[in-house]
Amino acid sequence: MKNVMILGGDGFCGWPTSLHMAAMGWNVLIVDNLSRRSIANRISAASLTPISSIEKRISAAQKIGNINFVNCDIAIQDGLLKETLASFKPDAIVHFAEQRSAPYSMLGDIERKYTLNNNICGTNNLLSSLVELNLRPHIVHLGTMGVYGYNDVYGEIPEGYLDITIKQTNEDATISYPADPGSIYHMTKCLDHTLMQFYVKNWQFQITDLHQGIVWGTDTEITKSDDNLINRFDYDGEYGTVLNRMLCQAQIGHPLTIYGTGGQTRAFIHVSDTAKCIALACEHPANTGEKLRVFNQVSEVRMVRDLANTIHDQTGAEIKYQENPRKEAAENKLKVSNQGLRSLGFEPVLIADGLMSEIKATVAKYQDRIDMTTIQSKARW
Ligand SMILES: NC(=O)c1ccc[n+]([C@@H]2O[C@H](COP(=O)([O-])OP(=O)(O)OC[C@H]3O[C@@H](n4cnc5c(N)ncnc54)[C@H](O)[C@@H]3O)[C@@H](O)[C@H]2O)c1
Repeated sequence: MKNVMILGGDGFCGWPTSLHMAAMGWNVLIVDNLSRRSIANRISAASLTPISSIEKRISAAQKIGNINFVNCDIAIQDGLLKETLASFKPDAIVHFAEQRSAPYSMLGDIERKYTLNNNICGTNNLLSSLVELNLRPHIVHLGTMGVYGYNDVYGEIPEGYLDITIKQTNEDATISYPADPGSIYHMTKCLDHTLMQFYVKNWQFQITDLHQGIVWGTDTEITKSDDNLINRFDYDGEYGTVLNRMLCQAQIGHPLTIYGTGGQTRAFIHVSDTAKCIALACEHPANTGEKLRVFNQVSEVRMVRDLANTIHDQTGAEIKYQENPRKEAAENKLKVSNQGLRSLGFEPVLIADGLMSEIKATVAKYQDRIDMTTIQSKARW
């Protein structure tokens, strides 16, 4: 049996992925400091779904497969992280353990500093500890499509690298795709990418960086199978992802809030596909000596306004265009390659495939838990 350590395995993507990999026969160790739960308390924006304590989650998950938990802050408790790595000896590590909300990272001084320190120190502590221990498990890191910026100036967005011709020498070359982050959060993912490239070059790490689109949905077949396995569902202005937020708004008769013209085109993926793609990446490690491998973990590209219109057609919900609180292009085109994961067998679930009604049912079930005061985003930049 192979060992996989899942950093951030208590989170929205990490929990269903941990369950999926345990069900596939991996021996799973979740390492998490439960900071997502504490931030939810601090900003008074609880998950719509009533998630169980980590203790109850783990005891229910042990009926699915081998799964255990260590409470460790990987950005601060580097000694405990090193001890855990040394004793567990992972074959693979999935690294989700970062502050993942762009709006949260732009709320103010405390959140900007916290996001940068947490995300960058966590990644560096992991890589540096592995150098010290002389361990080289395959690392699968969760990055974001936001590192590329959202435009088509170089044509279809390739997977991490851009083929160019150097003007001065007329030579062809492949360079890292120019980073264009739109928030402190996205910037930490660009910095992570450079950090990981350095460790690959200097210490022959095998790393896959998954540039993931916006995740929608909440359930997988396994999270639905037991109340103690329920996944979190964020609908608030800081952590709710756009499609989940709009479905939630439609259910409670709140207008669908669209920033600016709604002409933002973004990449999307369903949470069950997140779990499947990560398992695919773990089963097909990057080669030693290969440069940092990058896959775009994306199912499809959709414009926010079109998604809102689809929900309006299905539910009659009003659409409310608001002044955009963020610095971003009012309208953009986007085309994205997802060939890497597709070549490993990824067959994406699409928004049109009917799973939106599953989310509507979840929202209807827990509607009484919705706190209307958390719906508007407080971040401005
Ligand atoms: N949700 C999305 O739409 C989305 C899109 C693209 C990329 N991603 C990336 O996927 C990863 C997971 O996202 P998510 O939506 O599950 O976020 P999440 O906040 O729900 O989960 C992150 C988990 O990491 C833990 N964590 C954070 N910092 C930690 C630390 N220092 N030590 C230990 N544990 C720590 C949190 O407690 C939480 O359980 C993130 O890296 C995020 O950037 C998410």
